[in-house]
Amino acid sequence: MHSFIEFIMGPMVWISFLLFFLGTVFRFFKVFKMVNEKENFIYTYMSLKYSFRSIFAWLIPFFPASTRKSPIFYGISYIFHLLLLLVPIFLLSHVVLLEESMQWSWITLNDTVADGLTLIVIIALIFFMIRRIVVPEVKFLTKASDFVFILIVALPFFTGFLAYHQFFAYQWVVMVHVLSGELMIILIPFTRFFHMFMAPFTRAYTGSEFGYVRHAKDW
Ligand code: HEM
Ligand code: HEM
Repeated sequence: MHSFIEFIMGPMVWISFLLFFLGTVFRFFKVFKMVNEKENFIYTYMSLKYSFRSIFAWLIPFFPASTRKSPIFYGISYIFHLLLLLVPIFLLSHVVLLEESMQWSWITLNDTVADGLTLIVIIALIFFMIRRIVVPEVKFLTKASDFVFILIVALPFFTGFLAYHQFFAYQWVVMVHVLSGELMIILIPFTRFFHMFMAPFTRAYTGSEFGYVRHAKDW
């Protein structure tokens, strides 16, 4: 068991990031190949000006009209996405592991603050689940896999929280934590999580079409 933990906390971390990186390059390659083959007419109206105009408009909280129509959902989603990136990157336990193995380190969050922010992420994920069950127009579009994705994101936060508090079976909980974190990182390029990289391109495309073709705003 000891050497298994060493493996998943050592080489497996690098394997996960390598798969994440290679998978991302591969997916980008495939997307651009598909666009070139099937929809290369979009290049006639793709515009840097309208792309960045749309990306920046959508980065400002509550600036787009549709976000103001569902302020609770977008507010929670905005906070969720910020914390999803910030908490694991600036978590003391994570930075300490990197410092021990690579001598890399950077500023960290206070543990109590990080613990509270972790709870907020978990609550946001529960909110996303409930929304998919109770809002009729969302429910209509929801498949079982949508819940699986939410659970895959929830697992590293939930098990990280359990590990930090050492409620029970600490070693096992840490093991599940590390494996679920690695699973999430590996799955990003190959699943819906790839929206992380596609989101700016979706905005660039919509922004260009609205700005250049329809002379309209897309927010
Ligand atoms: C990739 C390998 C990973 C390793 C080796 C790792 C390792 C750890 C360790 C050792 C802890 C501390 C447990 C303790 O306090 O005793 C921890 C906590 C935590 N980890 Fe990770 N982790 C990994 C990935 C992730 C990922 C991908 C996420 C989220 C996306 C994540 C989120 C968290 C959170 C939120 C906590 C603590 C929560 C709290 O204090 O309430 N971890 N992790
Ligand atoms: C950093 C770049 C990212 C951007 C720009 C982005 C953008 C978005 C957008 C536009 C939506 C749909 C509407 C909304 O909820 O506001 C969304 C939903 C979501 N994103 Fe992201 N995302 C990013 C990264 C991630 C990552 C890394 C994950 C998890 C690994 C993630 C998990 C989710 C989940 C679980 C939902 C929707 C929940 C639901 O309604 O079922 N996102 N994201």
